[in-house]
Amino acid sequence: MTEKSDPSLSLYHLFKPEVLADPYPLYRRLRTEDPVHWDPFLHTWVVTRYRDVVSVLHDFSAQRTPTTDQLASLRLSQLSPVAQLMVKQMLFLDPPAHTRIRNLATLAFAPQRVRALRPHIQEIAERLLDAVQSRGDMDVIADFAAPLPAIVTAEMLGMPIADHVQLKSWSADFAEILGNFQHNPGRAARVLAAVEGMTTYFRSAIARLKVHPREGLVHSLMTAEVDGDRFTEEEIIANTIITMVGGQETTTNLIGNGLLTLLRHPEAMERLRSEPALLPSAVEELLRYEAPSQHTARLAAQDVDLGGKLIRKRQAVIAVMGAANRDPERFPDPDRLDLAREDNRHLAFGWAAHFCFGAALARIEGQIAFATILRRMPNLAFHPAPLVWRCNLGLRGLEALPVTF
Ligand code: HEM
Repeated sequence: MTEKSDPSLSLYHLFKPEVLADPYPLYRRLRTEDPVHWDPFLHTWVVTRYRDVVSVLHDFSAQRTPTTDQLASLRLSQLSPVAQLMVKQMLFLDPPAHTRIRNLATLAFAPQRVRALRPHIQEIAERLLDAVQSRGDMDVIADFAAPLPAIVTAEMLGMPIADHVQLKSWSADFAEILGNFQHNPGRAARVLAAVEGMTTYFRSAIARLKVHPREGLVHSLMTAEVDGDRFTEEEIIANTIITMVGGQETTTNLIGNGLLTLLRHPEAMERLRSEPALLPSAVEELLRYEAPSQHTARLAAQDVDLGGKLIRKRQAVIAVMGAANRDPERFPDPDRLDLAREDNRHLAFGWAAHFCFGAALARIEGQIAFATILRRMPNLAFHPAPLVWRCNLGLRGLEALPVTF
């Protein structure tokens, strides 16, 4: 690659705590100075304008699991079992394999199943707040934003609720590769252990469900059928895992980042408290404003011109949804929080074929989480403590969010 690049524009700077805390000035520079940027440190293109991110998500290849040779050159051969799992997961497939898996999975996770979870989610939210209400303080992440999606996910899968702590812990370890794959070889052992643990767990769950069927996504994936085509056991395990992981860290981050944003905008918080009808559009705006999943990756399917730059076949591209969501060409006054924003087609759930499979569930969880906290905690305020962002380049979320109420 001969492209000359300004090192100060590298996404590598996200490793600095002050950039991670507020990546938007870096994104703004990328969008305005070099919107299709070759990042020599990450060895990838970085795309930040809304229209270019949409093109990448629409046209580029999602089939990006590293081959055995690539893993060896990264000195990550031990992650080969993880790669074998990823090649069966919808997130990392192109059509026709993707279309087949997505259609079968959609059959298993129909809208009425998602809607049926609503009263349960409300109950879980109330129960989690009951546990802290008399204390007058809580860590939003540990006490609420982490366990809520973990319990909902266990329930959605049809697994025993008591297993949610274990499922959450595996998901957190697996999520490392979604955000940080090349950069944390030291964490490979944990990712591997999580994959082995989850595979064994779901294999025995499937055996159990064959004898004692129990409603939930795993059982639905076992029985889903389109024109005589069904999932293999390995495909059920792989796609249960990606659904479980995809639904946890992200939803935790929606609740944590969203509440942080409301605390930083007290007038908006008061408005939402007094106008609950704003909840659906408020959740969309909070997703746009602090996207829980800041970027994703693709490969160029062939040589292609994007924004005047030649991207070569098989070169990697990072599409930064967090930057596209603040693109003034698409969103008027993009750095302003507007809970009633109209025409808010943000990219927090991605775009096109891989558009988030669980978006409907995430929206319900977000709406219930914000509504319940605001209703039950009229005096919600920051508990003064420095904010620490999790060191994951892709999944943007806080380590902790202490509040009083
Ligand atoms: C606020 C919460 C969530 C956010 C921000 C989010 C974000 C995303 C994004 C950006 C993608 C597309 C990635 C890409 O194109 O490379 C995606 C895909 C996906 N999400 Fe979510 N997600 C959330 C919640 C959930 C939930 C609750 C579930 C499970 C019920 C879920 C399951 C999935 C799956 C399985 C995919 C892959 C879809 C495919 O490849 O066809 N997500 N999500």
